[in-house]
Amino acid sequence: MSLYSEKVMDHFRNPRNVGVIENPDGVGEVGNAKCGDIMKMYIKVENGILVDVKFETFGCGSAIASSSMATEMIKGKPLSEALALTNKAVTEALGGLPAYKLHCSVLAEQAVQAAILDYYKKNNIPYDPADFKNALEEHGHGDGDGE
Ligand code: FES
Repeated sequence: MSLYSEKVMDHFRNPRNVGVIENPDGVGEVGNAKCGDIMKMYIKVENGILVDVKFETFGCGSAIASSSMATEMIKGKPLSEALALTNKAVTEALGGLPAYKLHCSVLAEQAVQAAILDYYKKNNIPYDPADFKNALEEHGHGDGDGE
């Protein structure tokens, strides 16, 4: 399958950081309305650093590879850096994706943002909505505030 880079195939076959974090500090779940694929991201935060990140992706191979690569890129990094992660950076790190698969990598960017947003909300940390544009736009579940 020359359509996909070796890196994409590697992260698809051996995804890193798959699973669930018990008692996470933040959880982000996003979905692609068109294909129905879902990505869930769990984060653990200590002193503003993402000390652990795990994900579950119910989706296509490109979405799995993108979430795997995204977790590797943000693990151990400050929240500010994780927030700045773009789907473009994820795609580049994967050695590219076919144009019609680029939207799959957007899920990873959104899931990271949604998890950090959840963390900010749970801890009453002030945030700039502009930093969470994608997560806020596409998430649209309207839940999570049932306290
Ligand atoms: Fe749905 Fe890739 S086809 S995320």
